[in-house]
Amino acid sequence: MNDKIIVTGGCGYIGSHTVIELIKNNYKVIILDDLSNSSEETLDRIEKITGKKPTFINIDLKDADITNEVFKSHKDAKAVIHFAAYKAVGESINNPLKYYQNNLYSLLNTLSSQIENGINNFIFSSSATVYGTPNKLPITERNETQRPFSSYGNTKKVAEEILDDLINSNATFSAISLRYFNPIGAHESGLIGELPSGTPNNLMPYITQTAVGIREKLMVYGNDYPTKDGTPIRDYIHVVDLAKAHVIAVKRLIHKKQETAFETFNLGTGNGFSVLDVIHTFESVTNSKLNYEIVERRAGDVPELYASTDLAKEKLGWTADKSLEEMIRSSWNWEQKLRNKTS
Ligand code: WQD
Repeated sequence: MNDKIIVTGGCGYIGSHTVIELIKNNYKVIILDDLSNSSEETLDRIEKITGKKPTFINIDLKDADITNEVFKSHKDAKAVIHFAAYKAVGESINNPLKYYQNNLYSLLNTLSSQIENGINNFIFSSSATVYGTPNKLPITERNETQRPFSSYGNTKKVAEEILDDLINSNATFSAISLRYFNPIGAHESGLIGELPSGTPNNLMPYITQTAVGIREKLMVYGNDYPTKDGTPIRDYIHVVDLAKAHVIAVKRLIHKKQETAFETFNLGTGNGFSVLDVIHTFESVTNSKLNYEIVERRAGDVPELYASTDLAKEKLGWTADKSLEEMIRSSWNWEQKLRNKTS
């Protein structure tokens, strides 16, 4: 029997990779997406990779009535994975209401519609940003959360608090929150990857766009941090490793393997790499020189962030197994394919 899973934001970067892994594991996927930061072409690409085209519904989850209608027609779904959200950190600081409105209305409508229709399993796409500036490394799930610097980040923290309240009030509802560190990389086929609209905020797409000639040079935001080479350290994780963790979390919910109704897991590799490590690895993987310049720090960046992966390993039996080289190679492959197609 193919269990049905609803994936909001399933045409997006992490969503589309997760849909592929779900289909590979014989789940029937229903994607709900408004295509505000993604493309319908992703569906054809998912079909090319998996041989199956997921059901797609173009829907704005901010519309409560329509959302409820859609969930009503898929009330046999076993779980919801909620990716749909805006995610540009800088934009969220300039336009907080846009972020609170979109990310929180869509969350609230998804939750109330699924509960009304008897779908009681929920996976939330969260972020290491909920840890703020950590005072202890590596970051375990027991590290205290702090108010994130950006409104985007705060939508993730507030969402987790909403889930906590909901679970305390509802004996049948269960959730898993997955806190991602820094997702990069792309599907090995080069057909699916990250497609930032406009100028990328994140390091990896900025590097690949610079190397391919779309951007003149990469600005490295500060080299005076208290780290080995002065540039900030992050825990980069391959998006396919991340996607696989969602399938494990879905199984855990459906088969009622949870220890508590609301569980939280870090998804990282446990390894920290500096910005210069990433640049130098990119240069060695691609056998080229990257044009970059050290500039002022970027507001809100923390010096060092990497995960303790013990809990995910112990409870989910999941570890990330792809190296930084593999992440970078796949990002580069994706960028080049994209470039060849459009030029
Ligand atoms: C990584 C490092 C930058 C761009 C953000 C969100 C987080 C998560 C992932 C997303 C930092 C440096 C970057 C550039 C640079 N969410 N950098 N030049 O800030 O760790 O995390 O993305 O949806 O919630 O906060 O990731 O890739 O932006 O930056 O020097 O042009 O690269 O200063 O040290 P970050 P990032």
